[in-house]
Amino acid sequence: MKNIHIYSTPQDLAKAFAENFYAVTQQLDRDLNIAISGGSTPKLIFKYLADNYSDKIDWKRIHFYWVDERCVPPNDEESNYRMTYESLLKYIAIPDGNINRIKGDDDPDEEAINYSKIVGSQLRKSSGVISFDLVLLGMGTDGHTASIFPNQMHLLTSYKICEVARHPVSGQKRITLTGRVINNAKRVIFMVTGENKAVVVSQVLNNSHGSTKYPAANIQPQDGTLEWYLDLQAANLI
Ligand code: 6PG
Repeated sequence: MKNIHIYSTPQDLAKAFAENFYAVTQQLDRDLNIAISGGSTPKLIFKYLADNYSDKIDWKRIHFYWVDERCVPPNDEESNYRMTYESLLKYIAIPDGNINRIKGDDDPDEEAINYSKIVGSQLRKSSGVISFDLVLLGMGTDGHTASIFPNQMHLLTSYKICEVARHPVSGQKRITLTGRVINNAKRVIFMVTGENKAVVVSQVLNNSHGSTKYPAANIQPQDGTLEWYLDLQAANLI
């Protein structure tokens, strides 16, 4: 059974997600480890949280990690960290130690190893694999998620926590969590908006023939839950 939530607009989606996230933060029995993605929909959600929940959530109990990061400096306009800082982090009272930035400005191979060590040392394990409480994912028009692209499917099953990926068009290097780590999360949420995603969304959610070529279709949490937050445009072919 697929857990699909459809909203009229991206703004309604952001509001609904923020309300759900707030409710979760009000009943924590321990700190929450969340891995977040870049992209336009996550950005909308971060801005909504900043505008409406900056003083309602005890951010000291929230630990931010990144699902992926472009190999650029943190002040680069391509940086997922910069997007998150400008949309949310600079508006909330959160200890620096709760912000676990992937150092896109460091050597990619070294940072993939280093970030794997950081995440591996700080997170609890489930079935021998580290387990995030929540992973927020976007999806590209090619069905990529995180920085796992259709021509790099080995990143789905890698036994590493992080790997170096390469954008298939720009060649830009990225650091990404592997599919195995994402699938070991307690809760995985895709946030997808826009008509340009509708075809892939429908193929993935309808398990269409050949849809497993899309990395997003291979995100099937082992024991955790999988939810899709969509706007009407992205959902219009389901
Ligand atoms: C990134 C993201 C990536 C993103 C999708 C969707 O670093 O770009 O992690 O996986 O979520 O490309 O992005 P849009 O929502 O902007 O289409």
